[in-house]
Amino acid sequence: MSAGPLTVAMPKGRLGKQLAARMVPRGAPASLFDERDRTLLREAEVQGLRLRVLLLKPDDVPTYTEHGATDLGVVGRDVAMERGAALYAPWDTGLGRCHLVVAAPADAPPRAPGAPLRVATKYPRTAAHWFARRGEDVEVIFVQGSVETAPLVGLADCIVDLVETGETLRQNGLVVRETVCAVSAVVVVNHAALRLRRAEVERFAALVAE
Ligand code: PRP
Repeated sequence: MSAGPLTVAMPKGRLGKQLAARMVPRGAPASLFDERDRTLLREAEVQGLRLRVLLLKPDDVPTYTEHGATDLGVVGRDVAMERGAALYAPWDTGLGRCHLVVAAPADAPPRAPGAPLRVATKYPRTAAHWFARRGEDVEVIFVQGSVETAPLVGLADCIVDLVETGETLRQNGLVVRETVCAVSAVVVVNHAALRLRRAEVERFAALVAE
């Protein structure tokens, strides 16, 4: 009995475009990634591999895959780490390379003694873990985006955020204090799918590999 197509959670947005640029020359139809088409569930055969693709917000890729709604997905290591999902993630695509850093205003005044460091971030779990490992007392403040504004208006002392070119930090007068980790997009795989469909999972990983 056929198991049907391999079901893949793909991120929409910036990373989705980079994935398209890699996969289309390898035989994937461009329509698979077309976000103007509002059909979010698409099927295609790429190099003989049958795929059923869901276009999702990146944050949802680990959720669908952990629950087995998709066999595997592609998502930034930052998102996978923040979600702490129980997923197998050995394949790095090298796409979306950047760093997760702690950054603060270049001219930050000294903090009042005993006051916790206030950290604004889209990654509350990762940030809390990072400072806890250093034994630092922090107050983590969750924001959804434009994180760099937080220290400029007194919401936080520093931020934990992604830096790619460094332009956003520079334009907002912030500097990198520490690097938490390197980030790029990885293939995340549901554990059952890995057991049952390993050969197809490996073929998909090869399709998105550097
Ligand atoms: C990301 C990230 C930084 C910026 C870094 O934000 O959160 O703000 O890109 O890139 P750079 O080092 O090349 O300047 P994004 O553009 O995704 O928007 P957001 O602030 O709304 O999250």
